[in-house]
Amino acid sequence: MTKLYEYELFKSANILMRDMLKLKPDETIVITADTESDERVVNAAAAAAFALDAKPLVIWTPSPRGVGKAADPMLPVEALTAVLCEVDAWVEFNNQWLLYSTPFEIAMEKNKKLRYLCLVGMNADMMVRVIGRINIQLLSEFLHKVADMTARAKHVRITTPAGTDLEFDNEPGYRVSCDDGDASQPGIHMLIGQISWIPRFESINGTLVFDGTVLPPLGHLKEPIVLKIEKGRVIDIKGGSQAIEFKTWLESFNDPNMFRLAHVSYGFNPEAKLSGNVLEDERVWGCTEWGLGYLSPMDAPPDGIPAKSHCDGICLNSTVLLDGVKVLENGRVVQPELMEMVKDLGF
Ligand SMILES: [Fe+2]
Repeated sequence: MTKLYEYELFKSANILMRDMLKLKPDETIVITADTESDERVVNAAAAAAFALDAKPLVIWTPSPRGVGKAADPMLPVEALTAVLCEVDAWVEFNNQWLLYSTPFEIAMEKNKKLRYLCLVGMNADMMVRVIGRINIQLLSEFLHKVADMTARAKHVRITTPAGTDLEFDNEPGYRVSCDDGDASQPGIHMLIGQISWIPRFESINGTLVFDGTVLPPLGHLKEPIVLKIEKGRVIDIKGGSQAIEFKTWLESFNDPNMFRLAHVSYGFNPEAKLSGNVLEDERVWGCTEWGLGYLSPMDAPPDGIPAKSHCDGICLNSTVLLDGVKVLENGRVVQPELMEMVKDLGF
C-alpha cells in the first residue's frame, strides 16, 4: 500500500527550505523535476518555500535518456541555463539528473550566489525518512567529527565481510567533503549523511567487492562483484552475470580512465536503506562507496580525472581503520568518542 505521509512530507519540506537552505523572504528558488520525479515532493517543496515568503519557480522537463552531460541533447540548454544563472537557490529532484550537465556547469561557474542542493530521484517515502526523521544537528556534529578524523589520517584500510580488503594513503592536497545538511552557502550541496574524499590514486591497492548497489548501470546486486585494484586502477572483474554486464559497460566507453577509482565515501544517514536510488543507497549507515571514472577538477585540482562517465559501487558493513585505529567494524561505530555521539542517533 502506498503511504500517504502528507503530514510528514510537509514537515520534511519545511526542514529542507527553512533549516537546510535557510531560504529568506524574496529569494528566488528554482525547483527542477522531470517526468520521472515525484510530484508530491515537488509540490511540498514549492509550498514550503512560498510559506517562507520566497519565490519558488518549478521547472518540469521530459526525462532525458541519460544523466549529466549525456542529458544535454534532450534539454532546453540555453533557456534552462539562463534561469539557473539568475536564481538564489536550486533544488534538483530530477531522476535523470542535471548534475554535471552543461546548464549545471555554466550556472555553477557564472552564478556566484547560487546554492544548489542535489536531491535527485527523491520520493515522498525517502524524503520523510532521510530528511524528516533525522536529528540534523546531532548527525552534523557526528559527521564533522568523522570527517576531521579521516582528514588527519595518513593511511586507510577498508575491509568488508564480502571480501573487500583495500589500502591507500590519503592525499593532503584534496579536501574531505562532508554532507552535513547545511545548504545555506553558495556552492554544491548533497543530501545529508555522506563523507567523501579522494585518496592518492596510485596508492590504492587490494580487492574491492561491491555487494550493495552499482549505479549506473546495474542497480541492486544479486551477487557480489569482485574487482582487483592495482595502483588505483581496476585490473580484473569477477563474479556472475552482473559482473560481466558491468565490465562490458565500462569497456563500452573505450576510455581507460573509466577503470580508475575516483573517490571513496562513507554512508552515515541513520534512516537510509537500500532502495535502488543511489542517493539513498550510498548513505546506508556503515557502508563505504567507491566512485569510478570522471572526477571534477574542482574536487581534485588541477586535472581531476577526465573520463566519459562516472559510476558508484557500494560495499556494505564496512570495517575502517584510520592509521591502524578501528573506527567502524562491520558497519558499526566502534571508536569510543564516536560511539558516545551516535547513541542518540539510535545506534
Ligand atoms: Fe561518485
